Amino acid sequence: MSLTKSTATPPREGEEDISDLYPEDRGWVTECLSRLRDQRLQPKKTRLIEFPLPAALDGMKLFVKNESAQPSGSHKHRLAHALFTNALASGCLRDGTPVFEASSGSTAISEAWYSNELGIKFNAVMPSGTSEEKQQAVRDLKGNVILATAGEDLVTVARRQAEQSNGHFMDQFTYAERAYDWRSEHGLAPELCREVEPDWFVMGAGTGGTVTSVGRYARYTNRKLRVCATDPENSAFLPGWRDHDRTATDKGSRIEGIGRPRMEPSFLFPLVNRMIRVHDAASVATMRVAAQYLGIEPGPSTGTGLFGAVQILLGMQANRQRGTIATVLCDAGSRYTAEYYNDDWLDKKGIDYRAWMEPVERFFKSGEWQPPVNFSPAPRPSATLWNM
Ligand SMILES: Cc1ncc(COP(=O)(O)O)c(C=O)c1O
Repeated sequence: MSLTKSTATPPREGEEDISDLYPEDRGWVTECLSRLRDQRLQPKKTRLIEFPLPAALDGMKLFVKNESAQPSGSHKHRLAHALFTNALASGCLRDGTPVFEASSGSTAISEAWYSNELGIKFNAVMPSGTSEEKQQAVRDLKGNVILATAGEDLVTVARRQAEQSNGHFMDQFTYAERAYDWRSEHGLAPELCREVEPDWFVMGAGTGGTVTSVGRYARYTNRKLRVCATDPENSAFLPGWRDHDRTATDKGSRIEGIGRPRMEPSFLFPLVNRMIRVHDAASVATMRVAAQYLGIEPGPSTGTGLFGAVQILLGMQANRQRGTIATVLCDAGSRYTAEYYNDDWLDKKGIDYRAWMEPVERFFKSGEWQPPVNFSPAPRPSATLWNM
């Protein structure tokens, strides 16, 4: 059957039928979708690195899925693939429709990568302070960078720009959870669960799409796997989840890619079993210490996830449990040389990671945990945990 010729019967009087309006575009859509299904454009299977743990943590295992090896450098490669597939199949894109996205970095780079492959004009709306390297990475993939002025909400700017240009606002914060095909055998969760059977999946949330897809897969396949979302300082996710309040707000995070000033639609409460607040300084120290064990310098959000994994390991140790924890190496430190790997930048931001280096180093060497003297742990959630 030709896809460019409509086989619909003409509408009768009083009926509306638009089947013949865009027959050419249907051909273009089908072609893009078939390219996205092709092996070359599918997200890659990534390596699971076993993080060496000290003898004192006998019976416990920690695995890190290296998503920085995806062709566009982060786990957002999987999201970008899902968002384009969803937008094309949902009739949101026609040949020539420009795409807009609000992103602080990784998603913009991954969507630019797919746009470049599919010949779609891509526009990333990024915060005014976005590093030159990240802007350049989008431009290298033929994407256009629009910098929002300080204080402007990225989502509002991206939506407005898309409307003004007859474009499509991809809106990762809304569509991440529904675009991911969490039943498929190709997602992060099924790939991970084929390799190991984790008791916990730990990761920070930006859209919340990744933790959500793992939580859904765990239920769908009746796994014991629990999901822990690690949240940086000043993010609304933890108070919102704790108080079951979707109107929660906060100042917004300093750890790039995770933690948000408001609850995002893709962060679904019932799919998160536990949340852990992680000090920004602890995220940065863990990121730096982990580099020695992983053989790859990770980005700061990986440090936040790994710090959460340390807290879960400590809980297991205290309860004489054994178990397996998995987290994600979201992206590589090479994206952050001017920021989280630069002491001057960290000092300007007031992130004093130094006090956390020794405790984290000692834990990975010996399994002993002694947090910095002035450290006060974040309060535990008062509400009952969801759906354990
Ligand atoms: C570097 C980095 N880490 C972690 C995340 C969180 O991923 P998700 O959006 O699936 O919650 C993001 C999201 O943009 C990110 O850019």
